[in-house]
Amino acid sequence: MSSFYIQTYGCQMNVHESEKIAGILRDRGLTACDDVRDADIIVFNTCCVRETAETRVLGHLGRIKSMKKPGAVLAVCGCMTQRREAAEALCKRCPFVDIAVGTFNIHMLGEYIDMFSATGERIIEVWDEPREAREGKPLRDGGVNAWVNIMYGCNNFCTYCIVPYVRGRERCRPIDDIVRDVEELLDSGKKQITLLGQNVNSYKYKDKTFADLLGYLELDRKYRLKFMTSHPKDFSPALAERIAQSKVLSHNLHLPVQSGSDRILAAMNRHYTRSDYLSKVESVRKLVPDIGLSSDIMVGFPTETEADFADTLELVERVEYNNLFTFIYSRRSGTPAAEMPQLDYKTKQARIDRLIKKQFEISKSVADRAVGQTVEVLIAEVKDGKAFGKTESDAAVTLGADGVEQGEFVKVKIVSSVNANLTGEVVK
Ligand code: 5AD
Ligand code: SF4
Repeated sequence: MSSFYIQTYGCQMNVHESEKIAGILRDRGLTACDDVRDADIIVFNTCCVRETAETRVLGHLGRIKSMKKPGAVLAVCGCMTQRREAAEALCKRCPFVDIAVGTFNIHMLGEYIDMFSATGERIIEVWDEPREAREGKPLRDGGVNAWVNIMYGCNNFCTYCIVPYVRGRERCRPIDDIVRDVEELLDSGKKQITLLGQNVNSYKYKDKTFADLLGYLELDRKYRLKFMTSHPKDFSPALAERIAQSKVLSHNLHLPVQSGSDRILAAMNRHYTRSDYLSKVESVRKLVPDIGLSSDIMVGFPTETEADFADTLELVERVEYNNLFTFIYSRRSGTPAAEMPQLDYKTKQARIDRLIKKQFEISKSVADRAVGQTVEVLIAEVKDGKAFGKTESDAAVTLGADGVEQGEFVKVKIVSSVNANLTGEVVK
């Protein structure tokens, strides 16, 4: 066996987990290939946050069957297979899947592949909880950003969300390990580090908080530090101060509100009100005026009325997010919201269309206001005569490629904004 192919679904956490799987396979002497037809080992790293994610996995698995090389090992892992029923149903429907594991034993994938190769017997191994923590060396891409997990799992049990059931309770990594990882990554040339956790604001290690951890990462180096995701209930004034004073923290904040209606927020078990949220936004904007805000919003949560949805639209207008990730509520069996009265699909679809339209207008006007400003851009990619980068507030900018290199921080004047796409020129 010499090559592997990994297909990833879902969030950044999964993308980074796939880098860890790639690290395991690299350590066993395999190399990554671009075409699934050439691979000796195929791994599907799955997501189950919405039903569409699971349907996609099943559809793609069906197609892989005829594409994979005879004798290639097919493994499915991650959130979808952590749901034991889903793992069993998937293996029944796809008898050509050789290995199915959940989220808690992904680090064992190498051993499972050896076992399967030795016996030819299919392995379905889903653990109910984490039994050990093993941090390997991920195989990262050649880009400027690197992800670093600071914690795993979630304790919040928002009523719509399957994550706490498939990722378990919060486990935080030791501060020293995180700082060491970040230093090594910067030594290796990375220019941006994104700290990952389901709710980074509740990071706790011994008596240290997330704001303390960020303090340890104020290294005397030029780099950008980002984090996601933040839960508004735990977003503290100390953290806003930390962003304001920091030399390294990016001026952007992903603060998912989910809904603008107090009644829906309570039904979601979010532990904040619309006005709590708005005052947090106001306080962070006061301290960091150029903060770029983004959010996740879900429409069509059970019992959401037109008035609830109007509250969401109004909140979106009021906050003026730079960027919004919008979702149609998806019923996940086993979660409390799955038992509540559901909305029909047409209503949900019509609401998300209105939300997307509203945000597009906002994104355009936020981008228009950036024209004429001079900002610092981190160049992420140089390709076909163009350079692509991000401002401190996390807005994407396109520039001419002349004289700029990937990984450079450059001063850029924003010269135009077309449909929320910014173009800039390097300021000499
Ligand atoms: N249906 C739709 N969207 C969901 N999310 C989480 N659970 C569901 C669900 N059942 C969204 C939330 C979360 C984002 C990562 O996914 O908005 O912030
Ligand atoms: Fe899901 Fe809520 Fe935890 Fe986020 S905070 S992972 S939405 S339960």
